[in-house]
Amino acid sequence: MKILAFSLSLVALCATGLNAFNTKYYTTPSKKAFIKPTSNLSNEEIDSFILGKSFFRIPWVEAPSATTARDGLGPLFNSNTCISCHPNNALGSVYNKNNVSRHMVVRLSIPNSKTNDSYKKMGFTPEAVYGAQLSLNGTRSVPFEGKLAIKYTNKYETYKDGQTVVLSKPTYSLYDLNYGPLDKNAIISVRKAPPLVGLGLLELLDDEEILKNEDENDINNDGISGKANIVYSIIHDDYRLGRYTYKASAPTVKHQSAAAFHNDMGLTTSYFPNDNCTKTQIKCLSAPKPRDAIDVPDYRLEAVDFYLRHLKVPKMKITQKEGQKLFTDLACASCHTPKLKTKNNLIISPYSDLLLHDMGEELSDGRSEFKANPREWRTPTLWGIESYSKAIGKRVDFLHDGRAKSIEEAILWHNGEAKNAKDAFMNLDKEKREKLINFIKEL
Ligand code: HEC
Ligand code: HEC
Repeated sequence: MKILAFSLSLVALCATGLNAFNTKYYTTPSKKAFIKPTSNLSNEEIDSFILGKSFFRIPWVEAPSATTARDGLGPLFNSNTCISCHPNNALGSVYNKNNVSRHMVVRLSIPNSKTNDSYKKMGFTPEAVYGAQLSLNGTRSVPFEGKLAIKYTNKYETYKDGQTVVLSKPTYSLYDLNYGPLDKNAIISVRKAPPLVGLGLLELLDDEEILKNEDENDINNDGISGKANIVYSIIHDDYRLGRYTYKASAPTVKHQSAAAFHNDMGLTTSYFPNDNCTKTQIKCLSAPKPRDAIDVPDYRLEAVDFYLRHLKVPKMKITQKEGQKLFTDLACASCHTPKLKTKNNLIISPYSDLLLHDMGEELSDGRSEFKANPREWRTPTLWGIESYSKAIGKRVDFLHDGRAKSIEEAILWHNGEAKNAKDAFMNLDKEKREKLINFIKEL
């Protein structure tokens, strides 16, 4: 017994960062769930956390400025700070009052040729004039690129018990295009800023833990396949399993953070050393440069990465046992995996397999990224889903483009590999549907 007690305390001593063995280090019942640091950080790690937090939150300014520490914004950009699209580290909304919100990012591409360099490194081919993303803002001398408009048509889904739900199907168009017309084959993919929950825990999963749920050719014949995306890592200059973004095309939090500085804010890092101007955007190319060659030096990027990897996840408290059973019986759990084991033997409950699934034609964005085809999306995590609205202080928009106004609507958009699960949900009576949804709110 004594020996056991001794070895346990040794484990506790060695447990720094996320290498803790106890869920209480990384879960919290707090209303401010998404902004709390994991509770086992060393003093030095707390310093990194605070530094990262400050660079995630501070507004950047355009060059030249009196404050060289945070200038270099743009020349083309969507927002001047990370937190504005990920409020309280949670998710963005479709609308800001009556206007389409800047949280809605427009990714641009043209059909892939699969041979060019940008395809090899980004998994798609950017539009020639506007690049990989539409910039809603420009600095003083540089016109913004354009704006996004959304129109909705109704779509009706009727449950077996006769109740009908009206869904809103979006169609997108761009206006005020300041650099001429888009390529006639341009593909417009609209994505709302996702919540940043449990990112560090997801990075602690071994590839094998994710790959064991792959079933690309549906050998077990359950209608659900699931495949990992294999993507370029700009940090390692090789190909790795993709874990982050809607099509799982970013392998690490650091990679996605550098890409966000580049695409969303026009800030350079050692990984993306050039501003996001295309060859024909002369004013963008000739805009005033900041004094420092790189806007975000490595130690700041690393601090932001550290910060995002060491945030707590909301503590789950399951009382809805019947809803929990329905979640498994309806095969929701076949994609929204309840349990995964990290490298350091933590059992985590993200309710995602981090794999890509065909979700049907209506959710298609027409665009491929590496192995992900247009209809395929990474299963989103569900942990803490009920805390989103507390974090942002308003109703939440669900799915990649925020078209669902509730968990119920999100389920009704499921199709493709998830069609059987959705049909089974539609056959439930109202009481059971509510039990299932109430269970999801407890995650
Ligand atoms: C203009 C809005 C906007 C800004 C500003 C923004 N993001 Fe994001 N963020 C997004 C969108 C949209 C996605 C999804 C991208 C995709 O699927 O291609 C995303 C995805 C992410 C992800 C992946 C999350 C996941 O679970 O897959 C991380 C990490 C992230 N952003 C970090 C940052 C950081 C760090 C900054 C600041 C440097 C930042 N973001 C600024 C809109 C934004
Ligand atoms: C074949 C895999 C699969 C199955 C089965 C499945 N889902 Fe999903 N689920 C997804 C994917 C992928 C998305 C994201 C789609 C998108 O954003 O367009 C999603 C999105 C969601 C969302 C919205 C999350 C968010 O943050 O926007 C909820 C809630 C959800 N699913 C619940 C369920 C429930 C309940 C069931 C069972 C009735 C179920 N899912 C079955 C793959 C699946």
